[in-house]
Amino acid sequence: MRVVILGSGRGSNAEAILSAQQAGKLGGARVLQLFADKPDAGMLALGPRFGVPAGFVDPAPFKTKLEGEGEARFIAAVSACAPDLVVLAGFMRVLKPGFLNAFAGKIINLHPSLLPSFPGLDGIGQAWRRGVKLTGCTVHGVTAEVDGGPILDQMAVRIEVGDTLESLAAKVHAAEHALLPAVIARLSER
Ligand code: GAR
Repeated sequence: MRVVILGSGRGSNAEAILSAQQAGKLGGARVLQLFADKPDAGMLALGPRFGVPAGFVDPAPFKTKLEGEGEARFIAAVSACAPDLVVLAGFMRVLKPGFLNAFAGKIINLHPSLLPSFPGLDGIGQAWRRGVKLTGCTVHGVTAEVDGGPILDQMAVRIEVGDTLESLAAKVHAAEHALLPAVIARLSER
């Protein structure tokens, strides 16, 4: 299963996927390429470390969505990899029908809450401020409804007395790092 990872930030989830691959724990999946929509995304440093091509693709002209010329550049770059699976690992842009249709049924997203609770930005902070006692992370198929596609798997995290927003974030990220590679491995064995 040919995998392309898209991200915007530090890339800890891309790192978890690549570490799982290195440890032989990614099933029949193989990461071919990393793409970031920010030239300074930490994720891009993983390329040389893991021997996987990594590059910036210019997402302009929009700030929070992928549409128009930026979308066309992403479609061309990702298509060139002929992926079976496109993994959004902290890719902080809303996808529009052009990209969604180009890779229909092949895009999965990681979200830092137990969807359908706390969709959108800052899922961890939303859960913290609402005072829930159970949150976690979700991997779901991507559709036009933001954070609304079919849920593939979830991992729960308890908010304990003494937790802070920072300790909660660390627990949710640890859950993400376990969940996302496991879902990819499972999909590769379907
Ligand atoms: C992750 O916590 C992921 O769930 C979140 O961005 C972070 C990326 O971290 N994604 C979203 O909030 C998407 N709505 P990373 O760059 O270290 O993998």
